[in-house]
Amino acid sequence: MISNQKIFEKEHHIMAKLRNHENIVHLIGSVASEKHATPYLIMHLFTKGDLSRFLSAAGQEYSEIFKIDAINDILKGMKFVHENNIWHLDLAARNCLVTDEGRIKIGDFGNASFAKRGKKDLPSKVNYRWMPPEVLRKQTITWKTDVWSFGIVIHEICHAGKLPWQDLPILEDLPKAAEIMENEPLPGSNLNSDVDQMMKSCLAKLKKRPSFQKLSLLPLPK
Ligand SMILES: Nc1ncnc2c1ncn2[C@@H]1O[C@H](COP(=O)(O)OP(=O)(O)OP(=O)(O)O)[C@@H](O)[C@H]1O
Ligand SMILES: [Mg+2]
Repeated sequence: MISNQKIFEKEHHIMAKLRNHENIVHLIGSVASEKHATPYLIMHLFTKGDLSRFLSAAGQEYSEIFKIDAINDILKGMKFVHENNIWHLDLAARNCLVTDEGRIKIGDFGNASFAKRGKKDLPSKVNYRWMPPEVLRKQTITWKTDVWSFGIVIHEICHAGKLPWQDLPILEDLPKAAEIMENEPLPGSNLNSDVDQMMKSCLAKLKKRPSFQKLSLLPLPK
């Protein structure tokens, strides 16, 4: 079992490495003292809060431009994360923050890890709703795990924070949940065909799922 200190050090190390990208939450520093058992990471406070709450706030209707910019911001941030050889492993709207200008920064690197050659076991504290079918079946992760999660985030953005496959029996029967994900087609984005195409390719089977590098070569959703 890994100690809390080690987990903290890893998150700090990863955030420090990713500090210089406009779509990643900027780590200012950390505080550790004998008085407090838990060390703290210091970041800016985003008064608009996280993207999930922002999208689902009662009575809100967001412009197409906001949604498309949000998708592109997260794509740029995740491309940078992978270029730095890091897997996020908890990409979800609740872990993205909204700036005062309405741009998005990816945060919560508590589950992130340095990429390993081949496959790697899932962290123990993971939210299965954002995980792809092959992970639900075999519990192993790859470079394409975050790409599937990005597809779910696109759905959250396009459907006011709602998750796809609302009735998934996630924790009781993971293989059944995987089957539903593979067999039940999702509604379109309601935005445009570029966004539909991007979401669909993120939620494709493992072998057909593109990398963030490839996704960023597609025509950017407009
Ligand atoms: N810098 C910030 N500014 C504003 N709100 C924040 C900030 N960081 C985190 N939050 C809020 O706190 C929530 C939890 O933060 P975070 O995801 O980093 O921690 P966590 O330990 O993973 O908690 P959880 O298990 O709830 O995800 C976020 O979903 C967001 O609503
Ligand atoms: Mg979180």
